[in-house]
Amino acid sequence: MARKAIISDMHGNLEATIAVFKDIDEQNIENIICIGDVIGYGANPGECLDELIKRNIVSTKGNHESAILAECYEYFRPEARRSLLWTREQLYNSSWHFIRKIRRINFLHSMREKYPDETGALYLHGSPRDWKNEYLSSGDYINYIYKRPGAKRKLDVNFERFSKLCFNGHNHIPGLIIKVKQELEREIIDYQKKKIILTSGYNLVYPKELTDGIFELKEEEQVLVNVGSVGQPRNCDPSASYFIYDTKKMTVQCRRISYDILKAAAKIKKLGFRHLAERLTKGE
Ligand SMILES: [Fe+2]
Repeated sequence: MARKAIISDMHGNLEATIAVFKDIDEQNIENIICIGDVIGYGANPGECLDELIKRNIVSTKGNHESAILAECYEYFRPEARRSLLWTREQLYNSSWHFIRKIRRINFLHSMREKYPDETGALYLHGSPRDWKNEYLSSGDYINYIYKRPGAKRKLDVNFERFSKLCFNGHNHIPGLIIKVKQELEREIIDYQKKKIILTSGYNLVYPKELTDGIFELKEEEQVLVNVGSVGQPRNCDPSASYFIYDTKKMTVQCRRISYDILKAAAKIKKLGFRHLAERLTKGE
């Protein structure tokens, strides 16, 4: 399979999920990998699971699936906790057709912690060190640049745990952290035809800086790709985010997809989660 789509953090947002699948179909991609948090926050957790089941998608577990399976919500803020309790009720105790309910629950149990593919790429929700709870993203790069205590160590420990390429989600902000060896520094040209210099050590590139969101992978570099979120984006852009990994061209590409945000937000608001609905419309 030359082209793979990597999706994460749908969070029960059926409108965003369907819009992303439509775009994936239009790109002629058959191989889709989901890296967790299909449920939680949104109004259609069961329907989002049905979409993955229908397409037989390999999926790793997110912290929201883990919390629901273990019935352990202590790490979540009050509104997220309430949303998870509502989600569990929907999946386990609602009057849904018995077979459909069993299929959904079986799918939750089938989700893996990590998934390595045939190209050596690793897929997981949080971080290579802690798939469930650890955030690893742009904020860690900023801590590294400012030489904050433990920042380099955190990146080192996680980059030691994969070979070349790792896809994660969890913090809902798309971004690439690239580790470059000293003798292999290089320049890339951004969408404004300016140079971005990848220097030795860790570098951060946001997809919006890249022409068409495309980044060329180099054999000598290690790259962690945070794919952002389909259903609850948090980088001040409310459109759904996912990535395409082209294993022949050796590129990764961020895709931003618009969808009916107001419809998804109205359903969440109707359930009593006003703050979650507002976040969706603002992309926060
Ligand atoms: Fe999430």
